[in-house]
Amino acid sequence: MALTPQKLADLRQDYSLRGLDLCDIDPDPIVQFQRWLAEAHSNDLIEPNAMTLATVDATGQPWSRTVLLKVCDVRGFAFFTNYMGTKASHLEAEPRAALTFWWSAMERQVNVTGRVHKTSREESEAYFTSRPLASQLGAWASPQSSTLANREELELSFEQQKKRFEGLSIPCPEQWGGFRLAPERIEFWQGRRSRLHDRLRFERAPEGWTITRLAP
Ligand SMILES: Cc1cc2nc3c(=O)[nH]c(=O)nc-3n(C[C@H](O)[C@H](O)[C@H](O)COP(=O)(O)O)c2cc1C
Repeated sequence: MALTPQKLADLRQDYSLRGLDLCDIDPDPIVQFQRWLAEAHSNDLIEPNAMTLATVDATGQPWSRTVLLKVCDVRGFAFFTNYMGTKASHLEAEPRAALTFWWSAMERQVNVTGRVHKTSREESEAYFTSRPLASQLGAWASPQSSTLANREELELSFEQQKKRFEGLSIPCPEQWGGFRLAPERIEFWQGRRSRLHDRLRFERAPEGWTITRLAP
């Protein structure tokens, strides 16, 4: 049954778990992010590495979808995908993007913006090899973001790839690999009572990272 308009309008949560102050935060935003990600993971959140990736198309229209963060280090935030899909075509033409993590049980959000480039072929292949067999076959079977006549077409393609690679190690498809977003801005958001949330934003400057507090 659908939510009534009133029920939907009344859905809200007051946040009260904790605050976020300059003294709580590591001066390196990647270290701070890794700390929050580890806390989200130890809170048993499902896929704490899921993030919303926003890209823009040639007309300036923003698009967004969820992808999984697979590497996070000083170089930035990396995910893996099909290089022929919609997000990849956006990133080829406009290599700037935004990421959002929302960890509801922690009442925390992280927003990241920056420039994106492809991971090296070696890194993409190393990650591809670490994936479960079915995911490897899926990468061969699915022409991501293109139109399918029906579900059977996809399942047939999967079965064909399964036969093709039976008993063989599955190579990383040419059209599959990673992108890494090198952060220029990282904002940490902690929900607080009465919508007076804490927001601390790091911005990359020539001399290092600056931190500012923003109104919620
Ligand atoms: C939890 C979750 C994780 C996902 N992880 C990935 C991922 O790591 N890589 C990917 O290509 N698609 C992933 N997807 C699917 C994407 O959201 C999206 O449907 C797909 O990449 C096609 O996007 P595009 O047409 O904009 O290129 C994920 C979806 C969900 C719900």
